[in-house]
Amino acid sequence: MVNLGPRVAGTPTAEQASQYLIDEYRKAGYQTQVQTFTYSKFRDEGSTITVDGTPLEGQALNGTIAGKATTPLVAVPNVGRPADFANLPVNGRIAIVQRGEIPFTQKAENAAKAGAVGLIIVNTEGGTLRGTLTGKPTIPVVALSRDQGNPLRDRAQAMPTTVSLVVNAEERTITGRNVIAYLDGVTQPTVLIGGHFDSVAGSPGANDNASGTAVTLDLARRMAKTPLARQAWFVAFDGEEDGLKGSRAFVEAAQPQFLSGLKAMLNFDMVGVNQQLQIGGSSSLTAIAQPKASIPKSVVNGSSDHAAFAAKNVPVLFFYRGSDANYHTPNDKTVDPKLLNETSQTAMDIVQQILKVD
Ligand code: BES
Ligand code: ZN
Repeated sequence: MVNLGPRVAGTPTAEQASQYLIDEYRKAGYQTQVQTFTYSKFRDEGSTITVDGTPLEGQALNGTIAGKATTPLVAVPNVGRPADFANLPVNGRIAIVQRGEIPFTQKAENAAKAGAVGLIIVNTEGGTLRGTLTGKPTIPVVALSRDQGNPLRDRAQAMPTTVSLVVNAEERTITGRNVIAYLDGVTQPTVLIGGHFDSVAGSPGANDNASGTAVTLDLARRMAKTPLARQAWFVAFDGEEDGLKGSRAFVEAAQPQFLSGLKAMLNFDMVGVNQQLQIGGSSSLTAIAQPKASIPKSVVNGSSDHAAFAAKNVPVLFFYRGSDANYHTPNDKTVDPKLLNETSQTAMDIVQQILKVD
């Protein structure tokens, strides 16, 4: 699955991955169902700011409108409060402000009110600024790194500086696909076992999260030979990296009785590197997991698909192995099969215990 490359939700590769999972679950004796769902996703297709023929690397803010303009650049002092724009010739021009203190959306709205046709926001920290606009401002908004942005603002303050701003970005509706597997006739599981199979753009997602996808499939194969399989559903979630879209779609589509019938949802995310297995989640369940792993406090609400179930009052367990230097990078290429096997074995023991205690 890692050999497919990045499995970004809504792409043909993610669809291929879902087909692979369907085939594997069927071979293991399960029925499968694909649950599709749609959501809108922003994409930056390349945004630039050109000064004197030299392009700078702009980062379109998430949610910005597309647009193009070539105008003198106006250096606005501070962070772009309404007063910062007063008495400046911003009308019809591109403005540049600093990051911080007020939301990106307010800077954009203030700039638009002053008549600006585009806004550049300069990072105040090192590295790339990847910001998100909450509303839909009427002008294109781009971020620049501190190293590129500060000299540009200083120059615009010192002398007339014309810039060309190009923002190529769009909002697309994408279709995600959860792959659901269960034995014929099993309509009400007591445990739901899952992990996301999508990855972020540019990362093959071996640890995040082919590892959890593989452990989920492995548990399905192990359980297929036991009576436990009639108490379980297995789900490979899509769209996790876009904000838990797949798990949220699943819990929204589920009947309330289905969710209240679950004794546990087990989520596996990043279980293929680091020796120490960690298991977070609902205290009633971490008590069972206690002897087998390190139990960190309060991880129920963040970061991965178990959170969608916890929000619906389903008891959850979240299996992971801590931080990974290759997280969300092109280097997330390998995992240790021994660790996957260990995770699966531990989870098998825990499932047995959960289903034993009533
Ligand atoms: N796999 C990560 C979450 C994670 C991080 C698990 C570290 C275990 C250890 C997940 O895919 C992710 O990146 N989540 C996002 C939030 C999500 C709602 C987009 C995150 O943690 O920032
Ligand atoms: Zn993940």
